[in-house]
Amino acid sequence: MEALEKSSLPFIIQKGMINNICVIGAGTMGSGIALVAAQSSIVTTLFDVKEAMLDKASAGIQNSLNFLVEKQKISPQQAIDILNNIHFTSNINHCKASVIIEAIVEQVAAKVELFNQLATINTPQSIFASNTSSLSISDIQLSITNPERVVGMHFFNPAPIMKLVEVVKGQQTSDVVAQEIYDLCIAMKKTPVLCKDAPGFIVNRVARHYYLEAMKLVEQGVASIEEIDAIMEATGFKMGPFKLMDLIGLDINLSVSQSLYNAFEKAERFRPSPIQINKVLKGELGKKSGKGFYNYTSV
Ligand code: NAI
Repeated sequence: MEALEKSSLPFIIQKGMINNICVIGAGTMGSGIALVAAQSSIVTTLFDVKEAMLDKASAGIQNSLNFLVEKQKISPQQAIDILNNIHFTSNINHCKASVIIEAIVEQVAAKVELFNQLATINTPQSIFASNTSSLSISDIQLSITNPERVVGMHFFNPAPIMKLVEVVKGQQTSDVVAQEIYDLCIAMKKTPVLCKDAPGFIVNRVARHYYLEAMKLVEQGVASIEEIDAIMEATGFKMGPFKLMDLIGLDINLSVSQSLYNAFEKAERFRPSPIQINKVLKGELGKKSGKGFYNYTSV
């Protein structure tokens, strides 16, 4: 990966306009969020601890841009300009920006450690946004430098296509920070919704049973994976629950169930499915690993 020169980073917030961001984690979500930012002419740094993930993200972004050119949605020059807006790096010292958006593992401790590390190389004005699906923003704020600058910015998968972003105010998030992130979503042509910091926010709380009940039906031998997906799609859902879990990533989907299960004091209705736990233990994580509930020839 090409190293990013420190001096080439514009590091300013001008008149409330955020013009550079850094996305941490180049997986399913981080690579999509970086593309969304770059398409909005925002100078974007995409960081991952794994070079291989950066290479995969770069190839995926190039494919998406080629597709847009083929469909005549953008010109070849625009595709080049968008790609040039993204700097791929595995050097944490390059992660300086007006807004940091993390899309790493779904664990409070990992997110806290990352934000505190980044606080030492960013200014006190930098905003730390978490793309967490289900973790409490207030919990993340508890052990963090500048907690008023921490906010939830929950994109949906695939980030370049899905319009909704849940903007989550933790107990200590300042109104100004929530507003800046709300405005940033609009600048990125997204539809932001301000949410309270409740377990699973809104969408993941409502959608949880789409996944959990589907897996219970399979556990109980009522219907097969293929039958359930086909029936739900026939009723108008864009994707059946199993295809959707494969797209999301079974590990991420399981982490969200575990987080809600714990938040609701192990209520039976949020109990994680043994089928899903077994698949995660076997490394069958869905599309990203080549196998989940279905097999995928190309990852
Ligand atoms: P993923 O597993 O596809 O990618 C995570 C990436 O983070 C990997 O490339 C990994 O190398 C990197 N990483 C892990 N720890 C790191 C660290 N300390 N510093 C830098 N990079 C690190 O995960 P995915 O699906 O992109 O999820 C990321 C976050 O986004 C999670 O919090 C998840 O809950 C949330 N999310 C996921 C959605 C989905 O559909 N997959 C939807 C919305 C939110």
